[in-house]
Parts: sequence; C-alpha cells; structure tokens
Amino acid sequence: MRKSLVAGNWKMNGSRDSIRALLGGILDGIGEVNTASVAVCAPFVYLQQVSEQLVGSPVAWGAQNVSEHEKGAFTGEIAVSMLQDFNCGYVIVGHSERRSLYGEDDALVAAKFARVRAAGMTPILCVGETLEEREAGITEKVVARQLQAVLDAEGVGALADAVVAYEPVWAIGTGKTASPEQAQEVHAFIRGMIAAQDAAVAEGLVIQYGGSMKGTNAAELLAQPDIDGGLIGGASLDAAEFLTICKAAG
Ligand code: 13P
Repeated sequence: MRKSLVAGNWKMNGSRDSIRALLGGILDGIGEVNTASVAVCAPFVYLQQVSEQLVGSPVAWGAQNVSEHEKGAFTGEIAVSMLQDFNCGYVIVGHSERRSLYGEDDALVAAKFARVRAAGMTPILCVGETLEEREAGITEKVVARQLQAVLDAEGVGALADAVVAYEPVWAIGTGKTASPEQAQEVHAFIRGMIAAQDAAVAEGLVIQYGGSMKGTNAAELLAQPDIDGGLIGGASLDAAEFLTICKAAG
C-alpha cells in the first residue's frame, strides 16, 4: 500500500518570521495527520532555520531546485552536497516554473534527478502539460516525453526511490484545479507507462497531484485511486489550510 505524501512548495515566499510561525502552526496540528507523510520545500536560504525547527518532528524538508553539477565555478548555484549538509529529504526537479521561466529542458531535469538520487535524497519529478498542449490533445505525449527522459537516463528502477508530481501547468496558481477525473486519467497513464516496464515499481510509485489543490478540493482529488498526495503551492503557506490537505491524504 502506497503512503501518500503531501509536500508544500513554498516557491519564492516567506521570511524568517513568517516561516517560524507557519512551521509552528503545522507542528501544532501534525498529530492529527494519521498516515500521510508531510514535507515542506523551502527557499535555500531558510533551510538552516527550517531544519532546526523540524528536526525530530514528523515533518520532513527539502529544496525546490538543485544544480546538475557536483561543485565548482557555477556562481549562484547550489549543489546536492550542500542540501545534504542540511539533511534535506526531498528535492523538487523539473517544476514547470523552472522549465518555462528558466529554460530547463528534459535532459537537464534528468541530470538533476540523477544527482539527487545519487546523493540519497528523494527527487520529486514534476511533469505536466500546458493549456495549449491539453487543447491540442497531446497531454499524454508531453507527460510521456518528460518521464521518458528520466527513464532513458536512469532506468525504471530509479523510480523506486522517487516521487512523481503531475502538475498541469494551466492549474498552477490559477485557482483552476484539474477535475478529479482529469487528474486521475493522467495519473493512471503515468502509472501504466511505468508498469509496462516494471509492475512493482509502478505499484509502489507515489504520484502527487499539484495545481490549485486546497482544503476544499483535496479530498475528492485524493480519493482517486492513482492520486497519492499533493504538491501544494499557495495553500501550503497557510498552516490550517495545509493541514486540512494533509489530513485529507490520510
Ligand atoms: P499552486 O498550489 O499554488 O497552484 O501551485 C502548485 C505548484 O506549482 C506546486 O509545485
């Protein structure tokens, strides 16, 4: 039985004070979350603070991006070894904002994925189509291409210690959530694509949904058989809202 994972992606939000208060609120209510795993992905500069506040708690933490390089002359970049130094459990790779705003292509995302796994952290690999692609009827083609880049580079076994997040780009930050049926269809497609190569890996793979998930729509999305949690943007910045989603996940 897969264990759901709800992860907050704070994006470029927060301050020392707001993060202290947010994590305090999450920790106050985390005891009411029964089975779901919970994590927060913070901006790099707050990882020290986050790790100090969460150490020993049931809430894991991680980063939102990482360099594909090991170390060296890459001004402004962060290496996996640095994230290990702060005991990060997760690293988001291939978020659509990285792909569209910073030009990250499938090969670069696959290289980052490989770095994260090799360092013993869990990559959260984001995939998803734009509105234009959905309307053109190529959602599955796009998602398959994004997944295939990682499968080609790393092999299907690599997904045994990874998480996939299906985030339709048109649903991110728009308040326009995919319907449970729309999301389930793509989640089932993703699992089927993996199952064609390795049934056991597919069965164990946590596939999160992301895109305007909030307290009021989490339960119906999470009730779908192939939706195993959520990658939460805006709603993860509010402790009560985030906890409502975590509780809906189990
Ligand atoms: P929102 O929940 O704000 O739509 O963002 C989703 C997301 O991009 C999580 O990675």
